[in-house]
Amino acid sequence: MDSLMIKGGVPLEGEVQISGAKNAVLPLMAAALLTDEPCVIRRVPDLSDVRFMGQILASLGAEFRMEGDTVHIRAARLKGMADYDLIRKMRASICILGPLLGRLHQAKVSLPGGCVIGSRPVDLHLKGLAALGANITVKNGYVHAKAPKLVGSEVFLGGRVGPTVLGTANVMMAATLAEGVTVIESAACEPEVIDVANFLNGMGAKISGAGSPTVQILGVDKLHGVEHEVIPDRIEAATFAIAAAATGGEITILGARPDHMSAVLDKLGEANVKVERRGRNLTVKRGGRLKPVDITTLPYAGFPTDVQAQMMVLMTLTPGLSIITERVFESRFMHVSELARLGAEIAIEGPSAIVKGGRPLSGAPIMASDLRASAALVIAGLAASGTTVVNRVYHIDRGYERIDDKLRRLGARIERVKET
Ligand code: UD1
Repeated sequence: MDSLMIKGGVPLEGEVQISGAKNAVLPLMAAALLTDEPCVIRRVPDLSDVRFMGQILASLGAEFRMEGDTVHIRAARLKGMADYDLIRKMRASICILGPLLGRLHQAKVSLPGGCVIGSRPVDLHLKGLAALGANITVKNGYVHAKAPKLVGSEVFLGGRVGPTVLGTANVMMAATLAEGVTVIESAACEPEVIDVANFLNGMGAKISGAGSPTVQILGVDKLHGVEHEVIPDRIEAATFAIAAAATGGEITILGARPDHMSAVLDKLGEANVKVERRGRNLTVKRGGRLKPVDITTLPYAGFPTDVQAQMMVLMTLTPGLSIITERVFESRFMHVSELARLGAEIAIEGPSAIVKGGRPLSGAPIMASDLRASAALVIAGLAASGTTVVNRVYHIDRGYERIDDKLRRLGARIERVKET
């Protein structure tokens, strides 16, 4: 397993280009299964999750080709069975269920496993598909879904902690080919859901209201091919903004969507990080002494859970007390014990982390546990004195396109150490 060796203490300077959003491109690739015509997706980040989703589509009989940042998918023929060995590796693969059901009226898809950030059930996905008339059973670790005919209906997709992002996308995809009108209430409002709806509408679907809690889908008989450019990754942009502030540098983030980043930009402002917007570019630097902020993660447009770990690192560098409360995923504090190894003082009280910031961090070997935690550990290594080695970086390669190259171009002293 590769690791990243970081010699910290260098302020980041320069420009960085933001890639396409991982969380949009994965359901978009699944959506391409809804037609037998070719689909082309542009500005696709080169991530292990994308290649992996490509393998899943190929295992279902679709053609998948990646040329530079363009992906070509054609599901001329399709089989409706996806097995455990593929699905267990990536939770997002569950969103093939809706398209398979829409197109083939039946599917057998392995349940994705849990993961370190919580149990991550799929009950809402199944509830939504059942509301469209699918007969769903779970047996021997597989979801068996059958629907001689999908029929539009009203479905409430709010769960214990609010809406579900991929669940909304999954039901929306199946409903495009259902008979009549589907109304999803308590739909997720994330920009990635809007991107999926735009992709589907480009294929001939009739979806309105995406990005609001009520989404309406008028079913059509058939969808056709589409060409689409993925939205920029708001989580990647936030990660670089926080890295600039954490190292006391000044960077310009190119090609972002600041309108998708309001909660993060607002909190950075409160923390005395100056963000200057010029169209799609953001210049980020400290406005002086950092200030502690309290943060609660929430569904969009609240503060994203995917930026919680990175923001925690910034707060460890900020004199004073900050409280970071995680409301979307239980046990998403795996990074805390690793940050403690660098000298951070963080106490966990139920869903909250209390950060006593301001002590300098010093480098040490640490272990990445999940995707966003890995990004946080890299930021911590950049801000710490001495050398930090982040082990198990395969997590970061799942969701950040060439992060070490991008950081090196900003002046970071970061090297990938290949496992021998
Ligand atoms: C997506 C993102 C992930 C992000 C998350 C929340 C992708 C590929 N991943 O994950 O990066 O952290 O949104 O913004 O887009 N839940 C249920 N039942 C369900 C589904 C979800 O109880 O059937 C719960 C989850 O356990 C969690 C909450 O709902 O507590 C939100 O999860 P969800 O929005 O579904 O996350 P994902 O779509 O899997």
